[in-house]
Amino acid sequence: MTDIAADGLMPFHAMEILKRAKAIEAGGRLVCHLEVGEPGSPPAPKVIEAVQRALPLAQGYTNAKGLDALRDGLVGYYQQQHGVVVDSDAIICTMGSSAGFILAFHTAFRPGARIAITRPGYPAYVNTLLGLGFAISEIALSVDHGWRLTGADIAAAHAREPFEGLLFASPANPTGAAVDRAGLADIIATCERLGITFISDEIYHGLDYRAPSISALELTKSAIIINSFSKYYCMTGWRIGWMVLPEHMVRRAEILQQNLFISAPTLSQIAATVALGERDYAEAQKAGYAANRLVLDAGLREIGFDVGDPSDGAFYAYAGISRFSNDSMAFCEKLLDEAGVAMTPGIDFDRVNGQGYVRLSYAGKAQTIERALERMSGFLR
Ligand SMILES: Cc1ncc(COP(=O)(O)O)c(C=O)c1O
Repeated sequence: MTDIAADGLMPFHAMEILKRAKAIEAGGRLVCHLEVGEPGSPPAPKVIEAVQRALPLAQGYTNAKGLDALRDGLVGYYQQQHGVVVDSDAIICTMGSSAGFILAFHTAFRPGARIAITRPGYPAYVNTLLGLGFAISEIALSVDHGWRLTGADIAAAHAREPFEGLLFASPANPTGAAVDRAGLADIIATCERLGITFISDEIYHGLDYRAPSISALELTKSAIIINSFSKYYCMTGWRIGWMVLPEHMVRRAEILQQNLFISAPTLSQIAATVALGERDYAEAQKAGYAANRLVLDAGLREIGFDVGDPSDGAFYAYAGISRFSNDSMAFCEKLLDEAGVAMTPGIDFDRVNGQGYVRLSYAGKAQTIERALERMSGFLR
């Protein structure tokens, strides 16, 4: 079941659940999909229109860093959303944030370097780092502190086992936890004091339900920022994201991009340029997630899941299943097979304590959430 390779690589169980769900659907049963972290809606209509117009013309590579129009658009984004001035030369458009991670790791570190991440955390962090020959240090987070990382957590982990970098997302996957300005400032100050390169994964920015997201760029010039059009702009399959680098790293990252990826997909860059201007559409999607978030939280609580406060951001609930099971994969398989509800086992996000948790995405339609709660309630009670 949990086939961990000798170097620590592990399958993404969400995809195993998705495969199983598709097989069930092929047999004619309806499945409520809460397992995959992607918006249920397409990108804004103007994005599609722009790509339809550009299709006959936009067939070649772009410059490695990306189209000027997109990078200028991102400069505007930082000015409007975060009140910071970014040099467009410091921006590299990437094939999603996933490619941004590869560029960031190989720009800032050499293979063998140790990078810290949180546990629970996005599974690709562990698998990408290990797969590329880096070492990891996991900093355990606790539900008692709202799953939020602090400078003290970083300092304690660093004292036990020093690391050169910290990769951190706020809002986070799978918990949806977000740190506030003071919390982020504490994290950044601790990294700077200890000589740790801070990589800020800002992919869920915009999807915050308590307070506007704070970019690390508002607080420091020495962090690597990674972001993406996948979530807020509903463009997971377009494979388009970006990074902002400290000045002294830009050239190396550009050379790596030239060689590893050449450029991000041209049509997707055109789409992304338009998407930046379609925030009203993105906000309308977010309003749907915000409503789902409360319905799901109340429903899970009533059924008997262990849930803390509703998540600060992103579109996930990370719920304890101690009342039902101590084997999260078996629990998810059973719930899928018998109740037709697909969710992700906690072992994807936490190899130590994940057996006691599941992650549910509320990025889909309200009706899906309601139906899933109804089915779970019937099955689990
Ligand atoms: C925290 C986090 N970072 C990065 C990614 C990857 O996103 P992209 O589609 O931009 O490669 C995800 C996807 O779920 C994520 O949850």
